[in-house]
Amino acid sequence: MSQQEFWNQKFLRDGYLYGRKPNAFIESCSSNFKKAHRFLCLGEGEGRNAIYFAKRGFEVAALDASDIGLKKLEEFAKEEDVYVKTRCIDLNEWIPKKKYGSIIATYLHMYKEDREALFEKIDSCLKENGFFIGEFFSINQLNYESGGPKDINLLYTVDDFNNSFLNCTKHKVEEVEVELDEGNGHQGKASVIRVIIQKN
Ligand SMILES: C[S@@+](CC[C@H](N)C(=O)[O-])C[C@H]1O[C@@H](n2cnc3c(N)ncnc32)[C@H](O)[C@@H]1O
Repeated sequence: MSQQEFWNQKFLRDGYLYGRKPNAFIESCSSNFKKAHRFLCLGEGEGRNAIYFAKRGFEVAALDASDIGLKKLEEFAKEEDVYVKTRCIDLNEWIPKKKYGSIIATYLHMYKEDREALFEKIDSCLKENGFFIGEFFSINQLNYESGGPKDINLLYTVDDFNNSFLNCTKHKVEEVEVELDEGNGHQGKASVIRVIIQKN
């Protein structure tokens, strides 16, 4: 089953699987993002982070493999009277053409073998001093029932990030235990990796 088929099935259900509030870690990093720069959300799904930043005056684009997720994002944006540019694409096929001052990703479950290529693309399209900030389930999430894949190849280690982004300053790459309260999809204690990476 493709990522699109898998995520379309999930997003077909009523409501917003991870809620309509932004991810708490991303929200806490808001001061790192500059409004004058393009803002890109990778694997943004139903749009909770994209809408949050669009409402605060950012020029936001969102990429995702799920057309159903992006349709819900667009409806959500209309309700909030904001615009988010959307593009339905598998990130393995994505060829970045623009530069971005801010790139975020939350719970983007990329296969281990595809991560290095994605990280190279993120690095290549980040503006000087721009930030890549994200939160991902760690391999220790296999011990929790708060959400996320049960396939270890879709879960991350700190080394995945430390071995990439060699042109960047890593302000934070850490595995932490958190309490998630994000819709029906993420509830309870979880093991996540949080990253704050800045292009030199
Ligand atoms: C767990 S959801 C998280 C959605 C959103 N980031 C959030 O936190 O609310 C994972 C998202 O990543 C997207 N995704 C997974 N693999 C992808 C890929 N290879 N290319 C594009 N999107 C992908 C899915 O379609 C889905 O929207």
